[in-house]
Amino acid sequence: MRISSLKKLVTDLMAIDMGTSSTIIAVRGRDIVLDEPSYIAVNELTNDVVAYGQEAYDMIGREGRDITVVAPLSGGVVADFEKTKRMLAFFVRKSKSGGSQVSTQAVMSIVSDVTHVEQRALMNAAEEAHIGKVHLVEEGLAAAFGAGVSPTDKRASAVVDLGAGTTNIAIIAKGTVISSTSARIGGNEINTALATHIRRHRGLQVGEETTENLKTNFASTYLPEDIARSMEVRGRDVQTGSPGAVDITAGEVYPVVEAIVRRIAQLISDTLTELRPEVAADIYDRGVILTGGGALLNGLDQYFRNFVNLPFTVADEPRYATVRGLLKMFDEPDLLERVSRNELSLLQNAEIPFEA
Ligand SMILES: Nc1ncnc2c1ncn2[C@@H]1O[C@H](COP(=O)(O)OP(=O)(O)OP(=O)(O)O)[C@@H](O)[C@H]1O
Ligand SMILES: [Mg+2]
Repeated sequence: MRISSLKKLVTDLMAIDMGTSSTIIAVRGRDIVLDEPSYIAVNELTNDVVAYGQEAYDMIGREGRDITVVAPLSGGVVADFEKTKRMLAFFVRKSKSGGSQVSTQAVMSIVSDVTHVEQRALMNAAEEAHIGKVHLVEEGLAAAFGAGVSPTDKRASAVVDLGAGTTNIAIIAKGTVISSTSARIGGNEINTALATHIRRHRGLQVGEETTENLKTNFASTYLPEDIARSMEVRGRDVQTGSPGAVDITAGEVYPVVEAIVRRIAQLISDTLTELRPEVAADIYDRGVILTGGGALLNGLDQYFRNFVNLPFTVADEPRYATVRGLLKMFDEPDLLERVSRNELSLLQNAEIPFEA
């Protein structure tokens, strides 16, 4: 056996989708190996990391005295370089097939409006996680491939990725991004709106776990048939400060959620009115593909369909579309080379943002 093929045997080909709310890693031949919240818990006194991923997330709202749980990627970019680096290193180590001899090559997604500074920070984080070679690929492109768009298709496809912190609208044709729009609005906005509503109108402060549960298991984008259907939520009474609970109704939750969803629908609608005629014609025929965890919101595709007047379909396992698209890149080395955004010469002079 030649050395190069031996080396391939002991190289993990890793696809990494590091998002605001979760990091998903897939390894070639083993599919998804890691799906954890993008959080770490830090001891403020010693600066030690005490927990990563799911374990850190489970501490939110119930942290010990000196512990803070942080999401180092808030907004979809590297907000906290040092912590991002450590989180990535931990997840990569956890995802490896074998011992430390196994080398790693990775394809990672980046948001389309990433700056050189942010891109450089990400490359550095990957380097410190002992990844041998890293390719950075635009998120919209990866999501499209993962959702089944062919890289050789000359007709245009539209893919809307609804993440926790961002909504990314990408128009793809022939394996390239024709145009993309990214806005800092996502699933998190719904949680915040729900928490604000319950605090102001029902006098109860609720935590992240409660709003997430309300959103994923109770909320919908259409007026519910039984508006009196209710769900008990617990938290802290604003007046007395003591533990309390209130019954929230479906009719009460609906307008809060709808207000956010309408803003996202408007963003999609505005973006789709700026297309060139041929592209518009393609999208008119094919409609729009939805990816990302936000696409799982009850009735969202139907809402967009009515608002924008185009067919909308949710991709299979929408949360995994981006990582699956990245994984496919390993099968198409030429494509990967072409779409990689590793303009190192440009990055050389960029400053690395270190923690203050
Ligand atoms: N069943 C569900 N119903 C509604 N929302 C959901 C559901 N499941 C997950 N979500 C939401 O999807 C979002 C997470 O999606 P995803 O994992 O694609 O985000 P991300 O990639 O971490 O974020 P970003 O792409 O913005 O960096 C969260 O806001 C989460 O609450
Ligand atoms: Mg994402």
